[in-house]
Amino acid sequence: MLCADLLQILPTVACGLKAPNMQSFRFSLRFILPLALVVGLFAYAVMPVVNDMTVRWFVRDLEARSQMLASALQQPLLEYVADKNQKKIRQLFDRSVQEGGLYALGFCSPSGQLLYRSSTYPVVLGCRAGGAGSETQRSLVDLPDGRVHVTESQVRQGTEVLGQLILVHDMRYIERRTAETQHYLITLFALLAVVISLITVFIAHLSWRGWINAVKGILHLDERSSRSLSAPPEVQPLVGDLRALLHEMRVDRRGEGVSAINWTPEKLRSLLHDELSGDQILVVSNREPYIHTRTPEGIEVRRPASGLVTAVEPVMRACSGTWIAHGAGTADRETVDANDHVAVPPRKPSYTLRRVWLSKEEEQGYYYGFANEGLWPLCHIAHVRPVFRTSDWEQYVAVNQRFADAVIKEAHSEDPVVLVQDYHFALLPRMVREKLPRATIIMFWHIPWPNPESFGICPWREEILEGLLGNTLLGFHTPFHCKNFLETVDRYLEARIEHEASTISYGGELTEVEPYPISIAWPDEFPRSVPDCRADVRRELGLSDKHLLALGVDRLDYTKGIIERIQAVERVLELYPSLIGHFSLVQIAAPSRSSLDEYQNLESRVRALALRINKRFSNGSYEPIILKIEHYDSEDVNRYYRGADVCMVTSLHDGMNLVAKEFVAARDDERGVLILSQFTGAARELHEALIINPYHIEQGAEALHRALTMPEGEQRERMRSMRILVRDFNVYRWAGRMLIDAARLRRRERVTARIHSQSRKALRRVV
Ligand code: F6P
Repeated sequence: MLCADLLQILPTVACGLKAPNMQSFRFSLRFILPLALVVGLFAYAVMPVVNDMTVRWFVRDLEARSQMLASALQQPLLEYVADKNQKKIRQLFDRSVQEGGLYALGFCSPSGQLLYRSSTYPVVLGCRAGGAGSETQRSLVDLPDGRVHVTESQVRQGTEVLGQLILVHDMRYIERRTAETQHYLITLFALLAVVISLITVFIAHLSWRGWINAVKGILHLDERSSRSLSAPPEVQPLVGDLRALLHEMRVDRRGEGVSAINWTPEKLRSLLHDELSGDQILVVSNREPYIHTRTPEGIEVRRPASGLVTAVEPVMRACSGTWIAHGAGTADRETVDANDHVAVPPRKPSYTLRRVWLSKEEEQGYYYGFANEGLWPLCHIAHVRPVFRTSDWEQYVAVNQRFADAVIKEAHSEDPVVLVQDYHFALLPRMVREKLPRATIIMFWHIPWPNPESFGICPWREEILEGLLGNTLLGFHTPFHCKNFLETVDRYLEARIEHEASTISYGGELTEVEPYPISIAWPDEFPRSVPDCRADVRRELGLSDKHLLALGVDRLDYTKGIIERIQAVERVLELYPSLIGHFSLVQIAAPSRSSLDEYQNLESRVRALALRINKRFSNGSYEPIILKIEHYDSEDVNRYYRGADVCMVTSLHDGMNLVAKEFVAARDDERGVLILSQFTGAARELHEALIINPYHIEQGAEALHRALTMPEGEQRERMRSMRILVRDFNVYRWAGRMLIDAARLRRRERVTARIHSQSRKALRRVV
C-alpha cells in the first residue's frame, strides 16, 4: 500500500509500473521523434551538398574520358579530314559514340561550320566557340531534350588548327544517377535513424526495467525490514531518500486519521479523557507560563516571549494537570502556596503551576551556561561558537536532578504522563525513568537537532544522548531533525535503531522518535478591526496613514537574523529610492538572556546598525528602522501583526518559528505578506510565504520590494491558503498527536506488562 503511495509521488517510477504499454509507447516516441527530426534536418542540409559533389565527380570523370577520347581520335581524324573522307569520319564517329559511351561527336571547321557529325549529334547544338579560343573548352548546354556536357578540343596539324572536335555527353544520365544516389542516401539515413532509435529504446528499456526493479526491491524490502539494502550503484544515492520518504509517509498515514479531526481545546480534552482517562499529566519546562513581577504599582503577571509557552499553555488549559517550571519572577515566591503551587491562568485558573527555585549559581551554570552558551549555539549552527565548561555541566546535571525530583514528588501514581520541554532537560527523562519506570515520558525538543559531526563536539554527548533515551517518545519539529538524531545516536552509542519504526532500543528500553510540527492556538476573534489596527499603529509611531510597514517580532537573539533583516531594509532603500520616506521596518525585539556577552553584543550591533541606517536615510523625523527593544504583550503584538503590510521572519536557523504562524492567524482580512527564511521549520509548511535565504541580503531586499508591491489578489490567495493550514494544523493537533502516540505506547506497555506477569505466574505454578 505504501509502495503504491510512494509510487504516486515518483511519477516516473509509477508510469513504468502502472501502464507499461502506453508508457513504453510514449517513452519510445520521446526518443524517436527527436532522432527523426535530427536525421531529417541532417538530410535536408546535407543532400544539396551531396548532390553537388556527385555531379562534380561525374563531370570530372566525363572530362577525363573526353580528353582521352579526343587524343585517341586525333590521328585518324587528321587523316580522314585531310582526305575529306566523310564516310570514314562518320563511321569513326558512330563507332566512337557507341564504344565510348558518348552521346554524339561532331567536327567543326575553324570558322565554326559543322563539317562532320555522328548520326546522334543534335543539330541545334551547332558549333560552339569555333576555331578560336583555347585548346579545350567545356560547357553544359541545355537542349530541348535535356542537358548535355560539351567538350571542344582543337585538332591541329603542327601549328595549324584544322578544326574543333566536339564531344557531347548526355547529362540526363548523370542526373538520373545523382537522383538515384540521393534516393539511396535518404533511404540509408532513414534506416539508420530507425535502427539507432530501436537500439536506444531497447537499451533504455533494459536500464529502465533494472532501475524499476531495484526501486521496487528497495520499497518492498523497506516495508518489511530496515536492514541495509544492496541496490545497484545507480540507485544507491536514492536509497536514503526513499527510506526517509517512506518513513515520512508512514508518519503522515498514521496522522491521517488525526488530520481528519477538527482540533479544538474540547477535542483535546475529550481525547485525553478517552485515551488517557485518569492519567495524570505533568509538564516540565524551564520557562514558566506566568511570571509574577514586583513593580512600583504592585505585583504584575506577565506572559514570557517564548515559543514554548505560546504552544504548551493552551494545551495545559485544555487538559489541566501540573506544570513544573523555574520560578524566575521577582514576586514568584510571594504568589505560591506552601507546596510552591499557584493556580493559573490568573483570571480563570485551570491548571497548577509548580515553581522550582534555583540559586544564582544554578541558574548561571545550568541555564545561561550549559543550555544557552553550549547547547543553544550547538544545535542552531548560527556561527556562534558553543562554550562548554565543566562547572556549567555540573550545574546542568544538578538542576536536571532537582526538576526530576519535583516530577517524582508531584506524581500521584507510578505511571504519570510526563511532557518534558526542550534542551534544558536532556538528562531529566532518564532520571525520572529510574524512579518511575512505568511513566510515559514524552519530550519535545523545541530547537533544531544538528548533524552528528556538529553534535559530536559536545564533551558530554554520550550522557546527553543517554538522558534523552530515557524518553518513551521524543519529538522534533521536522523529519530532518529526527533523522539527524537517529544518525547521532547511531554514531555515538551502541544502540539498535529501527528506521522503519523510527525507534531506538538502548539498554533494553525503547524510544520512539517522531516529527510533530508545533503550532499555535487558532484565535477566535480580535478586539479591534484591521483598519483600526492599521490606524492605531501608525498613529502610535507618528506615521501617515499610507506609510508602508514591515514588522519583525522576535526575542533579541542572534539566531533570528535581525541584523540581516535590517540590512535587507537598507538595500531595498538603495535599490528603490522611491520608498525612502514612505516605508519603515518596526522591529519588536524582546530582550533575552541579556547577561550573556553574545546577546549584549547583538543588542549593541542592532542598535548601531539601526542608528547608521536611520541617519543615512533620515529627512526630518523619518526613520526607516523603528527599533523597539522591549517586551510587548500578546495583545500589542497582535495589533502590530494586523496593522503591518509585511511580516519578516529571517531566522538563520529556527526549529519552527511561531511568529510566522501567529502573523498568518492574525490576518483575518487575508492581506499582508509573510517573508520567511528557508531555514525555519515553518518554511516546510507555509509554502505560500515569500521564502528567502536570509544570508542573501539582495534576495531579502527583492522579496521585501515584492511584498510591498504585491497586488491584493495575490496577497489574498497566499494568505488564504496559509490560514487554512495554520487553522487545521494547530497546537491542539500537535499535542493531540503526541498524546495519541503516547496512549498507544502506554497500551502496548500495559499489555506487555500483563503478558510478563501472566507468564511469570504460569512459570511459578509449573515450578
Ligand atoms: O523557541 C525556542 C526556545 O528555546 C524555547 O524553547 C524557549 O522557551 C524560548 O526559545 C525562549 O527562550 P528563553 O526561555 O531562554 O527565554
